[in-house]
Amino acid sequence: MSTQDKIKKLIDLRAEAKLGGGIKRIEAQHGKGKYTARERIDMLLDEGSFEEFDMFVKHRCTNFGMEKNKFLSDGVVTGHGTIDGRVVYVFAQDFTVFGGSLSETFAQKICKVMDMAMKNGAPVIGINDSGGARIQEGVAALAGYAEIFERNIMASGVVPQISAVFGPCAGGAVYSPALTDFIMMTKNSSYMFVTGPKVVKTVTGENVTDEQLGGASVHASKSGVSHFVVDDEKEGLLLIRKLMSYLPQNNLEDAPLAACDDPIDRLDDVLNEIIPDNPNKPYDVKDVIHTIVDYGEFLEIHRNYAQNIIVGFARFNGVSVGIVANQPKYLAGVLDINASRKAARFVRFCDAFNIPIVTLVDVPGFLPGTAQEYGGIISHGAKLLFAYGEATVPKVTITLRKSYGGAHDVMSCKQLRGDLNYAWPTAEIAVMGASGAVEVLHGRQLKDIEDPEERAKFVAEHEEEYKEKFANPYQAASMGYIDDVIEPRNTRFRIIRALQTLATKKDYMPAKKHTNLPL
Ligand code: HXC
Repeated sequence: MSTQDKIKKLIDLRAEAKLGGGIKRIEAQHGKGKYTARERIDMLLDEGSFEEFDMFVKHRCTNFGMEKNKFLSDGVVTGHGTIDGRVVYVFAQDFTVFGGSLSETFAQKICKVMDMAMKNGAPVIGINDSGGARIQEGVAALAGYAEIFERNIMASGVVPQISAVFGPCAGGAVYSPALTDFIMMTKNSSYMFVTGPKVVKTVTGENVTDEQLGGASVHASKSGVSHFVVDDEKEGLLLIRKLMSYLPQNNLEDAPLAACDDPIDRLDDVLNEIIPDNPNKPYDVKDVIHTIVDYGEFLEIHRNYAQNIIVGFARFNGVSVGIVANQPKYLAGVLDINASRKAARFVRFCDAFNIPIVTLVDVPGFLPGTAQEYGGIISHGAKLLFAYGEATVPKVTITLRKSYGGAHDVMSCKQLRGDLNYAWPTAEIAVMGASGAVEVLHGRQLKDIEDPEERAKFVAEHEEEYKEKFANPYQAASMGYIDDVIEPRNTRFRIIRALQTLATKKDYMPAKKHTNLPL
Protein backbone atom coordinates (compact mmCIF):
# COMPACT_ATOMS: atom_id res chain seq x y z
CA MET A 1 0.00 0.00 0.00
CA SER A 2 1.43 3.40 -0.96
CA THR A 3 1.85 6.19 1.56
CA GLN A 4 -1.04 8.05 -0.08
CA ASP A 5 -3.26 4.97 0.22
CA LYS A 6 -2.31 4.62 3.89
CA ILE A 7 -3.25 8.24 4.54
CA LYS A 8 -6.50 7.75 2.66
CA LYS A 9 -7.26 4.69 4.79
CA LEU A 10 -6.80 6.77 7.94
CA ILE A 11 -9.11 9.46 6.59
CA ASP A 12 -11.72 6.85 5.64
CA LEU A 13 -11.53 5.15 9.04
CA ARG A 14 -11.96 8.48 10.79
CA ALA A 15 -14.99 9.28 8.64
CA GLU A 16 -16.45 5.85 9.40
CA ALA A 17 -15.91 6.31 13.16
CA LYS A 18 -17.59 9.71 13.04
CA LEU A 19 -20.73 8.11 11.65
CA GLY A 20 -21.15 6.05 14.84
CA GLY A 21 -23.97 3.57 14.30
CA GLY A 22 -24.72 4.96 10.83
CA ILE A 23 -26.81 7.64 9.17
CA LYS A 24 -30.17 5.97 9.87
CA ARG A 25 -29.55 5.82 13.59
CA ILE A 26 -28.19 9.40 13.61
CA GLU A 27 -31.41 10.50 11.91
CA ALA A 28 -33.43 8.58 14.50
CA GLN A 29 -31.47 10.35 17.26
CA HIS A 30 -32.14 13.74 15.65
CA GLY A 31 -35.78 12.74 15.19
CA LYS A 32 -36.09 12.47 18.97
CA GLY A 33 -34.78 16.04 19.30
CA LYS A 34 -31.43 14.73 20.54
CA TYR A 35 -27.89 15.38 19.36
CA THR A 36 -25.20 12.78 18.72
CA ALA A 37 -22.26 12.28 21.07
CA ARG A 38 -19.82 14.23 18.87
CA GLU A 39 -22.29 17.06 18.28
CA ARG A 40 -22.73 17.39 22.04
CA ILE A 41 -18.99 17.50 22.63
CA ASP A 42 -18.58 20.15 19.95
CA MET A 43 -21.22 22.32 21.63
CA LEU A 44 -19.64 21.84 25.05
CA LEU A 45 -16.02 22.60 24.25
CA ASP A 46 -14.19 25.63 22.84
CA GLU A 47 -14.34 25.49 19.06
CA GLY A 48 -11.75 23.16 17.55
CA SER A 49 -10.29 22.16 20.93
CA PHE A 50 -11.46 18.56 21.03
CA GLU A 51 -8.79 15.84 20.80
CA GLU A 52 -10.40 12.45 20.49
CA PHE A 53 -8.84 9.23 21.78
CA ASP A 54 -9.54 5.61 20.97
CA MET A 55 -11.52 6.18 17.83
CA PHE A 56 -10.34 2.82 16.49
CA VAL A 57 -11.44 0.79 19.49
CA LYS A 58 -13.89 -2.03 18.75
CA HIS A 59 -15.54 -4.42 21.18
CA ARG A 60 -14.10 -7.92 21.58
CA CYS A 61 -17.34 -9.76 22.29
CA THR A 62 -18.10 -12.94 20.32
CA ASN A 63 -21.40 -13.90 21.95
CA PHE A 64 -24.61 -13.93 19.86
CA GLY A 65 -22.73 -13.27 16.61
CA MET A 66 -21.35 -9.99 17.92
CA GLU A 67 -18.04 -10.59 16.13
CA LYS A 68 -19.86 -9.65 12.91
CA ASN A 69 -21.40 -6.55 14.40
CA LYS A 70 -18.77 -3.96 15.26
CA PHE A 71 -18.53 -0.17 15.12
CA LEU A 72 -15.46 2.02 15.41
CA SER A 73 -15.33 3.84 18.79
CA ASP A 74 -17.67 1.20 20.28
CA GLY A 75 -20.40 3.55 21.44
CA VAL A 76 -18.54 6.15 23.46
CA VAL A 77 -16.60 9.20 22.32
CA THR A 78 -13.74 10.17 24.63
CA GLY A 79 -10.95 12.72 24.79
CA HIS A 80 -10.09 16.17 26.05
CA GLY A 81 -10.62 19.76 25.06
CA THR A 82 -10.99 23.15 26.67
CA ILE A 83 -13.71 25.28 28.20
CA ASP A 84 -12.72 28.96 28.22
CA GLY A 85 -9.18 27.78 27.60
CA ARG A 86 -9.06 25.37 30.57
CA VAL A 87 -8.53 21.64 29.97
CA VAL A 88 -11.37 19.20 30.66
CA TYR A 89 -11.68 15.50 29.94
CA VAL A 90 -14.92 14.29 28.42
CA PHE A 91 -16.80 11.19 27.48
CA ALA A 92 -20.09 11.09 25.61
CA GLN A 93 -22.09 7.90 25.22
CA ASP A 94 -23.22 7.37 21.64
CA PHE A 95 -26.78 6.06 21.55
CA THR A 96 -26.46 5.27 17.83
CA VAL A 97 -24.12 2.33 18.63
CA PHE A 98 -25.92 -0.50 20.47
CA GLY A 99 -28.04 2.13 22.24
CA GLY A 100 -24.96 3.56 23.95
CA SER A 101 -24.76 0.35 25.97
CA LEU A 102 -21.62 -0.25 27.97
CA SER A 103 -19.19 -2.99 26.93
CA GLU A 104 -15.83 -3.96 28.41
CA THR A 105 -13.92 -1.83 25.86
CA PHE A 106 -16.39 1.06 26.24
CA ALA A 107 -15.67 1.09 29.98
CA GLN A 108 -11.92 0.96 29.32
CA LYS A 109 -12.18 4.07 27.16
CA ILE A 110 -13.97 5.98 29.93
CA CYS A 111 -11.48 4.76 32.52
CA LYS A 112 -8.60 5.96 30.36
CA VAL A 113 -9.86 9.55 30.26
CA MET A 114 -10.68 9.48 33.96
CA ASP A 115 -7.16 8.28 34.76
CA MET A 116 -5.68 11.03 32.61
CA ALA A 117 -7.91 13.64 34.24
CA MET A 118 -6.70 12.55 37.67
CA LYS A 119 -3.04 12.59 36.64
CA ASN A 120 -3.33 16.00 35.05
CA GLY A 121 -5.66 17.53 37.63
CA ALA A 122 -8.51 18.41 35.28
CA PRO A 123 -12.30 18.02 35.58
CA VAL A 124 -14.26 15.15 34.01
CA ILE A 125 -17.52 15.78 32.20
CA GLY A 126 -19.62 12.76 31.24
CA ILE A 127 -22.59 12.86 28.89
CA ASN A 128 -24.88 9.89 29.52
CA ASP A 129 -27.32 8.45 26.98
CA SER A 130 -27.31 4.69 27.26
CA GLY A 131 -29.32 1.49 27.44
CA GLY A 132 -27.07 0.35 30.31
CA ALA A 133 -24.91 -2.75 30.47
CA ARG A 134 -24.43 -4.30 27.01
CA ILE A 135 -26.54 -7.38 27.36
CA GLN A 136 -24.38 -9.53 25.05
CA GLU A 137 -21.32 -8.99 27.25
CA GLY A 138 -22.82 -10.14 30.56
CA VAL A 139 -20.62 -9.77 33.60
CA ALA A 140 -17.81 -8.13 31.58
CA ALA A 141 -20.08 -5.10 31.26
CA LEU A 142 -20.93 -5.14 34.96
CA ALA A 143 -17.22 -5.26 35.79
CA GLY A 144 -16.71 -2.33 33.43
CA TYR A 145 -19.23 -0.26 35.38
CA ALA A 146 -17.50 -1.11 38.63
CA GLU A 147 -14.16 0.03 37.14
CA ILE A 148 -15.78 3.39 36.42
CA PHE A 149 -17.44 3.61 39.85
CA GLU A 150 -14.09 3.05 41.55
CA ARG A 151 -12.57 5.88 39.54
CA ASN A 152 -15.51 8.16 40.33
CA ILE A 153 -14.81 7.49 44.00
CA MET A 154 -11.06 8.05 43.69
CA ALA A 155 -11.62 11.29 41.78
CA SER A 156 -14.21 12.59 44.27
CA GLY A 157 -12.80 15.65 45.99
CA VAL A 158 -9.76 15.64 43.68
CA VAL A 159 -11.17 16.89 40.38
CA PRO A 160 -14.70 18.20 39.75
CA GLN A 161 -16.95 15.62 38.07
CA ILE A 162 -20.05 16.70 36.19
CA SER A 163 -22.69 14.41 34.66
CA ALA A 164 -25.17 15.35 31.98
CA VAL A 165 -28.01 12.87 31.49
CA PHE A 166 -29.44 13.40 28.02
CA GLY A 167 -31.27 10.11 27.53
CA PRO A 168 -31.88 6.86 29.36
CA CYS A 169 -29.78 6.03 32.42
CA ALA A 170 -31.12 2.98 34.19
CA GLY A 171 -30.18 0.13 36.50
CA GLY A 172 -26.82 0.24 38.23
CA ALA A 173 -25.66 2.67 35.53
CA VAL A 174 -27.23 5.49 37.53
CA TYR A 175 -24.56 5.11 40.16
CA SER A 176 -21.76 6.62 38.13
CA PRO A 177 -23.56 9.99 37.80
CA ALA A 178 -24.70 9.62 41.41
CA LEU A 179 -21.06 9.47 42.52
CA THR A 180 -20.19 12.70 40.70
CA ASP A 181 -20.55 16.26 41.99
CA PHE A 182 -23.33 17.59 39.77
CA ILE A 183 -26.05 15.97 37.68
CA MET A 184 -27.96 17.75 34.95
CA MET A 185 -31.03 16.34 33.17
CA THR A 186 -33.01 17.46 30.12
CA LYS A 187 -36.79 17.84 30.39
CA ASN A 188 -38.85 15.12 28.67
CA SER A 189 -35.89 13.29 27.10
CA SER A 190 -33.91 11.90 30.03
CA TYR A 191 -34.66 9.58 32.87
CA MET A 192 -32.82 7.85 35.69
CA PHE A 193 -34.04 4.94 37.80
CA VAL A 194 -32.68 1.88 39.50
CA THR A 195 -35.53 -0.30 38.21
CA GLY A 196 -37.76 0.62 35.27
CA PRO A 197 -41.57 0.85 35.11
CA LYS A 198 -42.00 -2.81 34.06
CA VAL A 199 -40.16 -4.13 37.11
CA VAL A 200 -41.96 -1.64 39.32
CA LYS A 201 -45.29 -2.94 38.02
CA THR A 202 -44.27 -6.56 38.70
CA VAL A 203 -42.91 -5.94 42.18
CA THR A 204 -45.24 -3.31 43.62
CA GLY A 205 -48.17 -3.27 41.21
CA GLU A 206 -47.63 0.46 40.66
CA ASN A 207 -48.35 1.85 37.17
CA VAL A 208 -45.86 4.59 36.28
CA THR A 209 -44.32 6.02 33.13
CA ASP A 210 -40.58 6.60 32.63
CA GLU A 211 -41.18 10.30 33.19
CA GLN A 212 -43.20 9.81 36.38
CA LEU A 213 -40.66 7.39 37.77
CA GLY A 214 -37.41 9.10 36.94
CA GLY A 215 -37.85 12.10 34.66
CA ALA A 216 -35.95 15.35 35.04
CA SER A 217 -38.65 17.15 37.01
CA VAL A 218 -38.97 14.24 39.45
CA HIS A 219 -35.25 14.24 40.20
CA ALA A 220 -34.97 18.02 40.24
CA SER A 221 -37.86 18.55 42.66
CA LYS A 222 -38.74 15.35 44.53
CA SER A 223 -35.62 13.22 44.95
CA GLY A 224 -32.95 15.90 44.62
CA VAL A 225 -30.83 13.51 42.54
CA SER A 226 -30.52 16.10 39.76
CA HIS A 227 -28.97 19.49 40.48
CA PHE A 228 -30.04 21.14 37.24
CA VAL A 229 -32.95 20.67 34.87
CA VAL A 230 -32.79 22.23 31.42
CA ASP A 231 -35.21 22.53 28.51
CA ASP A 232 -32.79 21.16 25.94
CA GLU A 233 -29.28 19.88 25.43
CA LYS A 234 -27.88 23.14 24.06
CA GLU A 235 -29.00 25.01 27.16
CA GLY A 236 -27.53 22.24 29.31
CA LEU A 237 -24.12 22.29 27.64
CA LEU A 238 -23.90 26.08 27.95
CA LEU A 239 -24.84 25.77 31.60
CA ILE A 240 -22.00 23.29 32.17
CA ARG A 241 -19.58 25.83 30.67
CA LYS A 242 -20.95 28.45 33.06
CA LEU A 243 -20.74 26.12 36.06
CA MET A 244 -17.12 25.34 35.18
CA SER A 245 -16.26 29.05 35.38
CA TYR A 246 -16.89 28.95 39.14
CA LEU A 247 -14.79 25.84 39.77
CA PRO A 248 -11.08 25.21 40.11
CA GLN A 249 -9.40 22.55 37.98
CA ASN A 250 -8.67 20.39 41.02
CA ASN A 251 -8.47 20.40 44.81
CA LEU A 252 -5.00 21.97 44.86
CA GLU A 253 -6.00 25.06 42.92
CA ASP A 254 -8.31 28.01 43.42
CA ALA A 255 -11.22 28.81 41.13
CA PRO A 256 -10.27 31.32 38.41
CA LEU A 257 -10.44 34.97 39.40
CA ALA A 258 -12.85 36.84 37.11
CA ALA A 259 -12.39 40.44 36.03
CA CYS A 260 -14.74 42.70 38.02
CA ASP A 261 -15.80 46.29 37.33
CA ASP A 262 -18.75 46.12 39.68
CA PRO A 263 -17.76 48.61 42.44
CA ILE A 264 -16.77 46.79 45.61
CA ASP A 265 -17.98 49.63 47.83
CA ARG A 266 -21.34 50.32 46.25
CA LEU A 267 -23.99 50.99 48.89
CA ASP A 268 -27.20 49.06 48.30
CA ASP A 269 -29.80 51.23 50.01
CA VAL A 270 -32.51 48.77 49.04
CA LEU A 271 -31.10 46.37 51.65
CA ASN A 272 -31.87 48.82 54.46
CA GLU A 273 -35.54 48.41 53.55
CA ILE A 274 -35.71 44.71 52.78
CA ILE A 275 -36.49 43.25 56.22
CA PRO A 276 -40.19 43.81 57.04
CA ASP A 277 -41.05 45.35 60.43
CA ASN A 278 -43.23 42.33 61.13
CA PRO A 279 -40.82 39.44 61.86
CA ASN A 280 -43.35 36.92 60.56
CA LYS A 281 -43.54 38.52 57.14
CA PRO A 282 -41.45 36.83 54.46
CA TYR A 283 -39.13 38.40 51.90
CA ASP A 284 -37.10 36.82 49.11
CA VAL A 285 -33.51 36.15 50.17
CA LYS A 286 -32.61 35.85 46.47
CA ASP A 287 -33.16 39.62 46.27
CA VAL A 288 -30.43 40.01 48.89
CA ILE A 289 -28.12 37.63 47.01
CA HIS A 290 -28.62 39.34 43.64
CA THR A 291 -28.02 42.73 45.24
CA ILE A 292 -24.71 41.94 46.93
CA VAL A 293 -22.88 39.73 44.39
CA ASP A 294 -20.92 40.87 41.32
CA TYR A 295 -23.27 42.02 38.56
CA GLY A 296 -26.21 40.34 40.33
CA GLU A 297 -25.15 37.00 38.83
CA PHE A 298 -26.03 33.90 40.82
CA LEU A 299 -25.88 30.33 39.53
CA GLU A 300 -28.43 28.50 41.63
CA ILE A 301 -28.10 24.78 42.26
CA HIS A 302 -31.05 22.55 43.13
CA ARG A 303 -33.41 25.41 42.30
CA ASN A 304 -36.54 23.28 42.58
CA TYR A 305 -35.54 21.09 45.50
CA ALA A 306 -35.83 22.01 49.20
CA GLN A 307 -36.53 25.63 48.32
CA ASN A 308 -36.40 26.62 52.00
CA ILE A 309 -32.64 26.79 51.55
CA ILE A 310 -30.86 28.37 48.60
CA VAL A 311 -27.41 27.24 47.42
CA GLY A 312 -25.32 28.25 44.45
CA PHE A 313 -22.27 30.04 43.11
CA ALA A 314 -21.58 33.74 42.70
CA ARG A 315 -18.59 36.07 42.82
CA PHE A 316 -17.42 38.85 45.10
CA ASN A 317 -14.89 41.12 43.39
CA GLY A 318 -14.18 38.28 40.97
CA VAL A 319 -13.67 35.63 43.67
CA SER A 320 -15.84 32.54 43.25
CA VAL A 321 -17.87 31.71 46.38
CA GLY A 322 -20.54 29.27 47.42
CA ILE A 323 -23.63 30.92 48.88
CA VAL A 324 -25.93 29.19 51.35
CA ALA A 325 -29.03 31.13 52.40
CA ASN A 326 -32.17 30.29 54.32
CA GLN A 327 -35.21 31.30 52.27
CA PRO A 328 -37.91 32.98 54.43
CA LYS A 329 -40.23 32.95 51.42
CA TYR A 330 -40.53 29.18 51.52
CA LEU A 331 -41.60 27.37 54.73
CA ALA A 332 -40.30 30.44 56.59
CA GLY A 333 -36.76 29.23 55.82
CA VAL A 334 -37.01 26.36 58.29
CA LEU A 335 -34.38 23.61 58.22
CA ASP A 336 -35.80 20.19 57.37
CA ILE A 337 -34.37 16.91 56.14
CA ASN A 338 -34.11 17.86 52.48
CA ALA A 339 -32.73 21.33 53.15
CA SER A 340 -30.08 19.89 55.46
CA ARG A 341 -28.98 17.28 52.91
CA LYS A 342 -28.96 19.79 50.07
CA ALA A 343 -26.88 22.36 51.89
CA ALA A 344 -24.54 19.81 53.49
CA ARG A 345 -23.53 18.36 50.16
CA PHE A 346 -22.96 21.82 48.73
CA VAL A 347 -20.85 22.98 51.69
CA ARG A 348 -18.72 19.83 51.39
CA PHE A 349 -18.23 20.42 47.66
CA CYS A 350 -17.08 23.99 48.29
CA ASP A 351 -14.74 22.88 51.05
CA ALA A 352 -13.23 20.11 48.91
CA PHE A 353 -12.50 22.58 46.12
CA ASN A 354 -11.26 25.62 48.04
CA ILE A 355 -14.33 27.75 47.40
CA PRO A 356 -15.12 30.17 50.27
CA ILE A 357 -18.61 29.94 51.74
CA VAL A 358 -20.87 32.94 52.41
CA THR A 359 -23.87 32.06 54.57
CA LEU A 360 -26.96 34.28 54.89
CA VAL A 361 -28.97 33.32 57.95
CA ASP A 362 -32.69 33.78 58.56
CA VAL A 363 -33.82 30.56 60.14
CA PRO A 364 -36.64 30.00 62.65
CA GLY A 365 -35.30 26.56 63.64
CA PHE A 366 -35.72 22.93 62.63
CA LEU A 367 -39.10 21.77 61.32
CA PRO A 368 -40.96 20.00 64.13
CA GLY A 369 -43.17 16.91 63.77
CA THR A 370 -43.30 13.16 63.46
CA ALA A 371 -42.66 13.16 59.69
CA GLN A 372 -39.32 14.84 60.27
CA GLU A 373 -38.36 12.87 63.36
CA TYR A 374 -39.28 9.51 61.79
CA GLY A 375 -37.42 10.53 58.66
CA GLY A 376 -34.27 11.07 60.70
CA ILE A 377 -33.96 14.86 60.92
CA ILE A 378 -31.50 14.28 63.75
CA SER A 379 -29.02 12.50 61.45
CA HIS A 380 -29.75 14.67 58.41
CA GLY A 381 -29.51 17.93 60.34
CA ALA A 382 -26.23 16.65 61.77
CA LYS A 383 -24.86 16.38 58.22
CA LEU A 384 -25.10 20.13 57.74
CA LEU A 385 -23.65 20.77 61.18
CA PHE A 386 -20.82 18.40 60.37
CA ALA A 387 -20.20 19.90 56.95
CA TYR A 388 -19.85 23.43 58.32
CA GLY A 389 -17.80 22.30 61.31
CA GLU A 390 -15.24 20.42 59.23
CA ALA A 391 -14.99 23.02 56.43
CA THR A 392 -11.62 24.79 56.46
CA VAL A 393 -12.29 27.24 53.62
CA PRO A 394 -13.00 30.90 54.50
CA LYS A 395 -16.46 31.13 56.04
CA VAL A 396 -18.30 34.45 56.24
CA THR A 397 -21.72 34.50 57.89
CA ILE A 398 -24.29 37.30 57.87
CA THR A 399 -27.31 36.95 60.11
CA LEU A 400 -30.10 38.90 58.45
CA ARG A 401 -32.95 38.20 60.82
CA LYS A 402 -33.84 35.05 62.79
CA SER A 403 -31.21 32.68 64.08
CA TYR A 404 -32.93 30.44 66.56
CA GLY A 405 -32.03 27.36 68.52
CA GLY A 406 -30.08 24.45 67.07
CA ALA A 407 -30.40 26.01 63.64
CA HIS A 408 -28.36 29.00 64.89
CA ASP A 409 -25.49 26.68 65.73
CA VAL A 410 -25.78 24.75 62.46
CA MET A 411 -25.74 27.79 60.17
CA SER A 412 -22.00 28.47 60.31
CA CYS A 413 -21.87 30.00 63.77
CA LYS A 414 -18.63 31.24 65.31
CA GLN A 415 -18.03 28.07 67.31
CA LEU A 416 -18.16 25.92 64.15
CA ARG A 417 -15.02 27.77 63.07
CA GLY A 418 -16.95 30.56 61.36
CA ASP A 419 -14.27 33.12 60.46
CA LEU A 420 -16.22 36.35 60.29
CA ASN A 421 -19.76 36.49 61.61
CA TYR A 422 -21.67 39.68 61.02
CA ALA A 423 -25.28 40.55 61.78
CA TRP A 424 -27.71 43.11 60.53
CA PRO A 425 -29.43 45.25 63.22
CA THR A 426 -32.59 43.28 62.43
CA ALA A 427 -31.00 40.02 63.66
CA GLU A 428 -32.68 38.01 66.41
CA ILE A 429 -30.35 35.48 67.95
CA ALA A 430 -31.94 33.37 70.65
CA VAL A 431 -32.89 29.89 71.82
CA MET A 432 -36.38 30.29 70.34
CA GLY A 433 -38.90 32.87 69.13
CA ALA A 434 -40.65 35.16 71.65
CA SER A 435 -44.07 33.47 71.65
CA GLY A 436 -42.62 29.98 72.18
CA ALA A 437 -40.34 31.28 74.92
CA VAL A 438 -43.19 32.95 76.81
CA GLU A 439 -45.27 29.73 76.59
CA VAL A 440 -42.43 27.75 78.15
CA LEU A 441 -41.19 30.27 80.71
CA HIS A 442 -44.64 31.37 81.93
CA GLY A 443 -46.72 28.26 81.28
CA ARG A 444 -47.80 27.88 84.88
CA GLN A 445 -48.99 31.51 85.17
CA LEU A 446 -50.72 31.34 81.80
CA LYS A 447 -52.73 28.29 82.92
CA ASP A 448 -54.29 30.37 85.69
CA ILE A 449 -55.41 33.26 83.45
CA GLU A 450 -58.84 32.49 82.06
CA ASP A 451 -59.85 35.85 80.61
CA PRO A 452 -58.60 35.90 76.97
CA GLU A 453 -57.97 39.65 77.04
CA GLU A 454 -55.93 39.46 80.19
CA ARG A 455 -54.06 36.49 78.80
CA ALA A 456 -53.20 38.35 75.57
CA LYS A 457 -51.97 41.31 77.60
CA PHE A 458 -49.79 39.07 79.75
CA VAL A 459 -48.30 37.35 76.68
CA ALA A 460 -47.67 40.66 74.89
CA GLU A 461 -45.91 42.15 77.88
CA HIS A 462 -43.65 39.18 78.39
CA GLU A 463 -42.95 38.81 74.71
CA GLU A 464 -41.84 42.42 74.67
CA GLU A 465 -39.54 41.80 77.60
CA TYR A 466 -38.08 38.72 75.86
CA LYS A 467 -37.63 40.56 72.56
CA GLU A 468 -35.93 43.43 74.30
CA LYS A 469 -33.39 41.01 75.69
CA PHE A 470 -32.87 38.55 72.84
CA ALA A 471 -34.56 39.65 69.60
CA ASN A 472 -31.52 41.64 68.56
CA PRO A 473 -27.88 40.95 67.70
CA TYR A 474 -26.37 42.75 70.67
CA GLN A 475 -26.33 39.98 73.24
CA ALA A 476 -24.40 37.80 70.76
CA ALA A 477 -22.18 40.76 69.81
CA SER A 478 -21.45 41.52 73.46
CA MET A 479 -20.09 38.01 73.83
CA GLY A 480 -17.98 38.22 70.66
CA TYR A 481 -20.05 35.57 68.84
CA ILE A 482 -20.96 38.23 66.30
CA ASP A 483 -17.89 40.18 65.17
CA ASP A 484 -19.79 43.28 64.15
CA VAL A 485 -23.29 44.57 63.57
CA ILE A 486 -23.31 46.06 60.09
CA GLU A 487 -25.57 48.32 58.11
CA PRO A 488 -27.39 46.17 55.53
CA ARG A 489 -26.53 48.48 52.62
CA ASN A 490 -22.83 47.95 53.33
CA THR A 491 -22.99 44.15 53.16
CA ARG A 492 -21.24 43.70 49.80
CA PHE A 493 -18.25 45.72 50.88
CA ARG A 494 -17.95 43.98 54.25
CA ILE A 495 -18.08 40.53 52.61
CA ILE A 496 -15.47 41.50 50.02
CA ARG A 497 -13.16 42.85 52.70
CA ALA A 498 -13.69 39.74 54.79
CA LEU A 499 -12.83 37.49 51.84
CA GLN A 500 -9.73 39.56 51.10
CA THR A 501 -8.44 39.14 54.65
CA LEU A 502 -9.25 35.43 54.61
CA ALA A 503 -7.56 34.73 51.28
CA THR A 504 -4.46 33.42 53.08
CA LYS A 505 -6.39 31.46 55.70
CA LYS A 506 -4.98 28.09 56.70
CA ASP A 507 -6.97 25.72 58.86
CA TYR A 508 -6.78 21.97 59.20
CA MET A 509 -8.55 18.83 60.27
CA PRO A 510 -6.60 16.49 62.55
CA ALA A 511 -4.95 13.58 60.71
CA LYS A 512 -7.34 10.68 60.33
CA LYS A 513 -8.35 8.08 57.75
CA HIS A 514 -11.65 9.87 57.20
CA THR A 515 -14.48 11.31 59.28
CA ASN A 516 -17.59 9.36 60.17
CA LEU A 517 -20.13 11.81 58.80
CA PRO A 518 -23.68 10.82 59.94
CA LEU A 519 -24.76 9.48 56.54
C1 HXC B 1 -27.30 -4.07 23.99
C2 HXC B 1 -28.86 -2.49 23.50
C3 HXC B 1 -29.09 -2.26 24.87
C4 HXC B 1 -28.33 -3.02 25.80
C5 HXC B 1 -30.36 -0.95 23.76
N1 HXC B 1 -29.68 -1.67 22.86
N2 HXC B 1 -30.03 -1.31 25.01
N3 HXC B 1 -27.97 -3.38 23.08
N4 HXC B 1 -27.45 -3.90 25.32
N5 HXC B 1 -28.47 -2.82 27.12
C6 HXC B 1 -29.75 -1.55 21.40
C7 HXC B 1 -31.05 -2.06 20.82
O1 HXC B 1 -30.96 -3.44 20.57
C8 HXC B 1 -31.10 -1.26 19.52
O2 HXC B 1 -30.23 -1.84 18.58
C9 HXC B 1 -30.51 0.05 19.91
O3 HXC B 1 -29.73 -0.19 21.08
C10 HXC B 1 -31.55 1.11 20.25
O4 HXC B 1 -32.45 0.54 21.16
P1 HXC B 1 -34.03 0.66 20.96
O5 HXC B 1 -34.66 -0.25 21.94
O6 HXC B 1 -34.37 0.51 19.53
O7 HXC B 1 -34.24 2.19 21.35
P2 HXC B 1 -35.40 2.85 22.18
O8 HXC B 1 -36.73 2.39 21.68
O9 HXC B 1 -35.12 4.31 22.17
O10 HXC B 1 -35.25 2.31 23.67
C11 HXC B 1 -34.10 2.60 24.41
C12 HXC B 1 -34.10 1.77 25.71
C13 HXC B 1 -34.28 0.27 25.38
C14 HXC B 1 -35.25 2.26 26.59
C15 HXC B 1 -32.78 2.08 26.42
O11 HXC B 1 -33.36 -0.08 24.36
C16 HXC B 1 -34.03 -0.60 26.55
O12 HXC B 1 -34.94 -0.79 27.42
N6 HXC B 1 -32.87 -1.23 26.62
C17 HXC B 1 -32.51 -2.12 27.69
C18 HXC B 1 -32.28 -1.35 28.95
C19 HXC B 1 -31.83 -2.23 30.07
O13 HXC B 1 -32.65 -2.93 30.69
N7 HXC B 1 -30.52 -2.26 30.27
C20 HXC B 1 -29.93 -3.01 31.33
C21 HXC B 1 -30.06 -2.15 32.57
S1 HXC B 1 -29.32 -2.93 33.90
P3 HXC B 1 -30.42 -1.64 17.01
O14 HXC B 1 -29.37 -2.53 16.41
O15 HXC B 1 -31.81 -2.07 16.72
O16 HXC B 1 -30.18 -0.20 16.72
C22 HXC B 1 -27.79 -2.35 33.83
C23 HXC B 1 -26.94 -2.89 34.88
C24 HXC B 1 -25.76 -2.00 35.11
O17 HXC B 1 -27.43 -1.60 33.02
C25 HXC B 1 -25.16 -2.49 36.37
C26 HXC B 1 -24.02 -1.66 36.80
C27 HXC B 1 -23.62 -2.03 38.16
